[in-house]
Amino acid sequence: MKSAAHILITCGIFRWKLRSKVARNGRRPARGVFLLEPSDRHGWRECRCCRRIHLPDTRSETQRERSGPYSVVVKYSGQNLHRGTPVAEAGTAAADIDVRAADLSSNELELSYTARSELAYRKRLGQFFTPYSVACFMSQWLTEVSASEPQILDPCAGLGVFERALSATSPDFARNARFTLWEKDEDLAQDLVAVCKRLAIHHSVTSRDFLDEQAWSATYDAIIANPPYYKHHYVENKEDIRAAISSKVGAPFSVQTNIYCWFLIKALSMLKPGGRLAFIIPTEFLNANYGRDVKKHLLETGFLRSIISVCYKSRTFDDAITTACVLLAERARESSRGIRFYRADSSEQLGDLTEFLADAEFIEYETSDLDVERKWRSYFPGNRAVDTESSNLVPFSTYGRFSRGIATGANEFFAIRPSTAAAHGLPAESLIPCLSKAQQAPGKTFTRHDFEALRQADKPVYLFDGEATTGKAVEHYIASGEVSGFHHRYLTRMRNPWYALEKRSLSKIWVGVFGRAGIRFVWNESNCVSLTCFHLFQSSRLGESCLPFLFLYLNSSIGRNFLELEKREYGDGLEKYEPNDINKALAPDFELLDQENSKRLIDLQSEFKNAEQNSPEEKAVLEEADRIFETLIRHSRQAVGYKGAIISRS
Ligand SMILES: C[S@@+](CC[C@H](N)C(=O)[O-])C[C@H]1O[C@@H](n2cnc3c(N)ncnc32)[C@H](O)[C@@H]1O
Repeated sequence: MKSAAHILITCGIFRWKLRSKVARNGRRPARGVFLLEPSDRHGWRECRCCRRIHLPDTRSETQRERSGPYSVVVKYSGQNLHRGTPVAEAGTAAADIDVRAADLSSNELELSYTARSELAYRKRLGQFFTPYSVACFMSQWLTEVSASEPQILDPCAGLGVFERALSATSPDFARNARFTLWEKDEDLAQDLVAVCKRLAIHHSVTSRDFLDEQAWSATYDAIIANPPYYKHHYVENKEDIRAAISSKVGAPFSVQTNIYCWFLIKALSMLKPGGRLAFIIPTEFLNANYGRDVKKHLLETGFLRSIISVCYKSRTFDDAITTACVLLAERARESSRGIRFYRADSSEQLGDLTEFLADAEFIEYETSDLDVERKWRSYFPGNRAVDTESSNLVPFSTYGRFSRGIATGANEFFAIRPSTAAAHGLPAESLIPCLSKAQQAPGKTFTRHDFEALRQADKPVYLFDGEATTGKAVEHYIASGEVSGFHHRYLTRMRNPWYALEKRSLSKIWVGVFGRAGIRFVWNESNCVSLTCFHLFQSSRLGESCLPFLFLYLNSSIGRNFLELEKREYGDGLEKYEPNDINKALAPDFELLDQENSKRLIDLQSEFKNAEQNSPEEKAVLEEADRIFETLIRHSRQAVGYKGAIISRS
């Protein structure tokens, strides 16, 4: 536990804003006053238990006694926002976790920490902890290494769940091992030291950023981790990290690479010959664009043995919406010839590793047959229900392209209600009918009548087009947007003029961006465009004549099976398609349709639109459409692997 006193700002309103934007400036402030400027973040810390901001009190003990507690003036952007009241001594959250009393063979420590800490704080550091049982499962992989005093690295150790698991399940191994542990969060690092002492293991704990650290020369017999995961936008020094890692491993990586991949790539380079690595990470990189180079690197090192994907509909981490997979790698004398793809229905299935690897269903592929351009989700058992090799398939982009809806950068200004338009006297020419939320089109069709109902209900269904016409009302409205600072937003300031709109033509087929029970397609019979809540299909000349077939196909189970191969999964059942995911998906070559089936499909599309959702009529229509598509594609339901790629199946 830390003993240093802290100045506590009791500013309720600005606490949250200040946490990220304001920092203490100056080492020894004038008596009683702290000047806070937005430039320097050092010294700021949010207390995890009381959710307040603490400033380290830099005064000596004597000075503190002499002058008493500070009062605090918070200055932000030169403006006084709040005069804080002085101050209480604040304990640290570390004191709230009683390492001495906790049951180390469970997640008690993590649960206690999670209960006392703010989700926002934990998100910033990617603090989502591994279930104890999964930690036991993963640590079994390490105990096979042959070194008598194995050097073990855990680059982001948190509260030491892996070290605890190893100590409980393989006490001799843990006793002989030398643990090198990194944990960026100082408070957690202190608790981690206490954990290691209680376990009586040889340890060195470094409370710094594992990725910043220049030294790459250390190597380890075993590496185990659940690295932090958050988007590249939140990594301040992402360019430096990318440059350091790319030059070290001699391979290019995208700057959009999620932080967990940096941990993985760096750790792989620190593996001794004969060493083993176990990582639990999101599956996102297997399917995301930035993951291409990561997968390429994994194949090139030749260390990867198995990937165990935990079904994305089950939650591996209680408080994080994420997918999860366990990677098992080994730096054996010979590169791995094949990689096994396992699937677990939930993390509960990850009990005994040896049993799991022997009994669970897997597909093993030759490394040389794995395609880094592909989404690897299609390699796992159960994910391939369609034959992509049929010659009667073409990419969806043959018929046109989905592109994202209009991004305004300031929906508060651009998406306006009829009443707001009337109040500002905006002319009809400056108002484009437009949906701003997916809930505004909840069904499978959206008609002019639906739009009229939204308009009558004064929903924000107009998009302001400041370039379409001129006049005092339009000028005033634009000026009011500038007063509110909308022209300084990220997207608007890139445009000239700032209120210019992205152009989209009317689209017949919309697709919802996110979905839990599958992605939704909407047949648009209105004259509306849409903001980013829907992707919009812009058809080619060929596509124009195939629109009813395409809509039916997207809703059919055969179409959904093909789309499945391209989707992104976000844990807890959340699915997403980027426009290009659908553009790449395969569709039947409708030019091969005979007249009779074309006519029948047009009728079926109309019946489908009119049938009640999930009704027996709807089901019958889709089944008949499926049969026609199936005949067209031929052999489409055969579940086969990539030719020549499968080495073995369990
Ligand atoms: C996903 S948690 C996992 C913790 C623990 N290993 C477990 O599995 O329960 C990741 C941990 O890494 C720490 N961390 C985040 N960024 C880090 C960095 N750049 N270097 C070292 N540790 C970091 C976080 O504070 C957090 O405790």
